[in-house]
Amino acid sequence: MKVLVIGSGGREHTLVWKLKQSKRVSKIFCVPGNGGINQIAKCVNIKVDNSRALADFAARNKIGLTVVGPEAPLAGGIVDEFQRRKLKIFGPDKKAAQLESSKVFSKEFMRKYHIPTAPFKVFTTAAEAIGFCRSVQFPAVIKADGLAAGKGAIIVKNFEQAQNVVEDIMLKRVFGDAGDRVLVESFLSGQEVSIMAIADGKTVVPFLSSQDHKQAFDGDRGPNTGGMGAYCPTNFATHEVMEQITDHILTPTIEGMAKEGSAYKGVLYAGLMLTPAGPKVLEFNCRFGDPETQVVLPLLKTDLVDLMMASVSHKLSSFGKLAWRNETAVCVTMASKGYPGRYSTGVKITGLNEIKDSNCYVFHAGTQQKENQWFTAGGRVLGVTGWDKDLKLALNRVYRTVNKIRFDGAMFRRDIGFRASKPVNK
Ligand code: AMP
Ligand code: GLY
Repeated sequence: MKVLVIGSGGREHTLVWKLKQSKRVSKIFCVPGNGGINQIAKCVNIKVDNSRALADFAARNKIGLTVVGPEAPLAGGIVDEFQRRKLKIFGPDKKAAQLESSKVFSKEFMRKYHIPTAPFKVFTTAAEAIGFCRSVQFPAVIKADGLAAGKGAIIVKNFEQAQNVVEDIMLKRVFGDAGDRVLVESFLSGQEVSIMAIADGKTVVPFLSSQDHKQAFDGDRGPNTGGMGAYCPTNFATHEVMEQITDHILTPTIEGMAKEGSAYKGVLYAGLMLTPAGPKVLEFNCRFGDPETQVVLPLLKTDLVDLMMASVSHKLSSFGKLAWRNETAVCVTMASKGYPGRYSTGVKITGLNEIKDSNCYVFHAGTQQKENQWFTAGGRVLGVTGWDKDLKLALNRVYRTVNKIRFDGAMFRRDIGFRASKPVNK
């Protein structure tokens, strides 16, 4: 079978790498891909927001399965376009993707179906939102309604900050139309955990839990980024906690979406806070997480093509249990100097060709190859991933590899997994 992956980051490199391990796959294309993906797949330059051109490509090349990485094409209706043309595609349609593309939709949906989440209020004018902020308890969280590249949720410590954030979002339009509406919600504390699950409209099956590290610097300090590293599985999403998550969050979400006439297929990503009152949803994403995918998929033993085809053809209920390696995976993001602010690209990378560890893989997020030389081509450059019997061994393995890779100004966190040993909410 020929497979097409859409996207260009570390997540997509991981998807291509994993899909390629399936005996069913004869050839993999990636649109647009990146330097690393280009080593193992055929990269094709089509705009990822051009659903028609992508469907034309899939039809012309007899693609048996298309897998979408980022949220924007899903929110734009790529699945609807492929389905209309009877092309097999893995992911939710435009209506179902609203679970991520509109935070107002997502929160109102959760309220309706009693899915645990922070209490919230929605506002369509800055004056009303600011008025409400006079009476809330701080810290509080202000969120732009629409897609804001992961930057649309801001924790505010006092009224002045809240006022500034509301004005930035609703009046200065720092996130554009995503700021037509804002939510003000209560702050939740606890361990944050990422749960990805696969769904076929009726059945939902969770993957192993993982934990992202969003802040730029050690100790969770500094600005928010796309993710500086992750590990999988976590020790606090115990069997019991996973059961609660499945029963109170994942299953009611899939059942609720079906009742709303938006059968949810593809990956459902739940960003959760494990609070003393149980797991609560911070956000839903309608796609694989990045960097979480880089640590979850290396541990998956089940054939990913089989699994995705079961989602596409509504056959997850008879698919059987997922098989996992009994190991821990760690990913350390190596980023350009200045990221997530301004950074330069075109910086020479050395050491990539010397990595020989078969329990390590370097996923590329932003690289370019010119005449056998590697150069940086983005903010997040590489996701160095390794797996071993336990977290400590996996960390040693990954940091050994990280230390072999060099580029000027390379930034990475040295404390990935530091929350792992801490008990929940103590
Ligand atoms: P979101 O875009 O909604 O995922 O939010 C981004 C990040 O903001 C989350 O990963 C959390 O770290 C934080 N966050 C969002 N909502 C809350 C909340 N209600 N309480 C505490 N932290 C939150
Ligand atoms: N790691 C967070 C995300 O993928 O949205």
